[in-house]
Amino acid sequence: MSDVLKIGVLASGRGSNFQSIIDNIESGHIKALISVLVTDNPGAYVLERCRKHTIESLIMKPADYPDRNSYYAAIADELMKREVGLVVLAGFMRVVGKALIDTFPNKIMNIHPALLPSFPGLHGQKQAVDYGVKLAGCTVHFVDEGVDTGPIIIQAAVPAYHDDTEDSLSDRVLRKEHLIFPYAIRLFSENNIKVEGRKVIINSKREDQSLINPPGTDNQSL
Ligand code: GAR
Repeated sequence: MSDVLKIGVLASGRGSNFQSIIDNIESGHIKALISVLVTDNPGAYVLERCRKHTIESLIMKPADYPDRNSYYAAIADELMKREVGLVVLAGFMRVVGKALIDTFPNKIMNIHPALLPSFPGLHGQKQAVDYGVKLAGCTVHFVDEGVDTGPIIIQAAVPAYHDDTEDSLSDRVLRKEHLIFPYAIRLFSENNIKVEGRKVIINSKREDQSLINPPGTDNQSL
């Protein structure tokens, strides 16, 4: 068991992505275990999910530390103590500090609800709705010191419609988040992710498909 990947999760809210990771581990799709959940929010529903699945949780609030650096150093410390090999940001609503990034280089994954590099930061789905894009989606990427700027691991696209609201688009995107985040973690746990500069190299089959929205323009019947 000692070589099973140990995952540390950071989350701030309801934790539906956290749940999708738990489900994939419990069903055997991902060979890993979640060692600890760290939250900055004592009221987060993600804590309830920890109780249900007997996962250790730590509440660590930035206000309890003298500065940002010592906050992230303390989180890094807790993760190191538990021999975590991968850190997963599952709806962690803060820009992660250097102390944590330097401890886990290319070992911190984040899920972002937009097709990066479009719409980084908060409310990616609302930014997409307001902009009027026809394709939206989500991205799993490694975390560097920028805001949603690290090397991209996997993306999923969904159609966006003129009458979408932030909520309707968020629901459509979230369904894909629950697919690609566990998939990225599985690839990592199988040692199938290599990073060269900005490029993430993954051995996988290739499918030359396109998603066109509005549909109907990719055949001969124009
Ligand atoms: C998800 O949509 C995730 O992509 C987003 O927060 C939501 C968390 O939902 N993350 C960010 O916006 C990070 N900048 P969840 O708590 O149900 O997983």
